[in-house]
Amino acid sequence: MNMKIELPPIPYGALFFAPMEGITDETFRKTILKLYPEWDYLACDFLRVPSAGRYPVKHLVRHIGRDLYEIGWVKEKTLYQILTSHRAFTVEMVKDVDSLDIPWMDVNLGCPSPTVCKNGGGSSLLRDLESLAPLMKSIRDNFKGRLSAKIRIGYSDSVFFEDTIRLLNDVGVELITVHGRTREQMYKEPADWSFIKKAVQISKVPIIGNGDVWNTEDIDRMLNETGCHGVMVARGALKSPWMAQDYRRGIFKETDQERFQKMKNFFNEYRALLENENVSMRGLLKQSKAISKYMVNTVENGETLRRRLMLTQTVPEFFSLIESL
Ligand SMILES: Cc1cc2nc3c(=O)[nH]c(=O)nc-3n(C[C@H](O)[C@H](O)[C@H](O)COP(=O)(O)O)c2cc1C
Repeated sequence: MNMKIELPPIPYGALFFAPMEGITDETFRKTILKLYPEWDYLACDFLRVPSAGRYPVKHLVRHIGRDLYEIGWVKEKTLYQILTSHRAFTVEMVKDVDSLDIPWMDVNLGCPSPTVCKNGGGSSLLRDLESLAPLMKSIRDNFKGRLSAKIRIGYSDSVFFEDTIRLLNDVGVELITVHGRTREQMYKEPADWSFIKKAVQISKVPIIGNGDVWNTEDIDRMLNETGCHGVMVARGALKSPWMAQDYRRGIFKETDQERFQKMKNFFNEYRALLENENVSMRGLLKQSKAISKYMVNTVENGETLRRRLMLTQTVPEFFSLIESL
């Protein structure tokens, strides 16, 4: 019989750095943890459950990060996200992750990728509750840590939304993040926070609100308008990785110069950590561009600056442009 891992309760107003594929890898999360410990929790991007066979243990550890895996308190701050479907080898992988004493697993029920959905995974499970229920139960039965789920409000519409919230409560999920869009909406329309409010009314477990939180004022607005327990930020946290720090310090405004200084601090730390890693220059440039994509949106002549950043051809060119700001 599995002994349940007890984690401290999630504080009201907790701030979550969202999972982002291609961005929230170990080096990125280390940078965030070091510079902005005000983020209460951070998520790994998803690890896809294989449709046959098992991953070697070192692959499972690499997903949270070899260094971070060794540090207990960081593990407790980290959501280990998986992406699966009823056709994948879920129980085997969940057991393997469980045997590593990973304290928190998050199930991705929002991924909109056509390939993932064609295989019955990610957001397509939101229109197939008959598959979702036994799948989530099998994960619950084989994982002793905290189990959470991250959902959109539905696949093509939101007709199953309330049933999904109830289903996740019934199978023993301990926290649900609601991104207020359907899969079909992708990012085209604004996130509809009324669904987050609805989830709060139905759910016995804490609801984390997600979608279109772009600044510190939006954090308060999300908490007040929806009654959610905490807030998860994705693109806004790329725009301002320091958002949680500003929020906790009561900073609601900044000048362009202050923003540039924060960008320099962030990239200096990121680069310093990367120097110890064996990463390809091409991959690093791509990732640095993805990280900085939203950072200059709101500054004067931001569009020109954003284009210049995106047009850099080498890593030194990218970093010297940041340094010149
Ligand atoms: C580049 C990128 C990668 C993402 N990867 C993931 C992922 O791996 N897992 C996940 O659950 N959501 C993923 N998302 C969705 C976000 O976590 C979040 O739910 C969505 O962007 C809405 O929040 P926002 O309006 O704060 O950006 C990703 C989003 C972006 C922009």
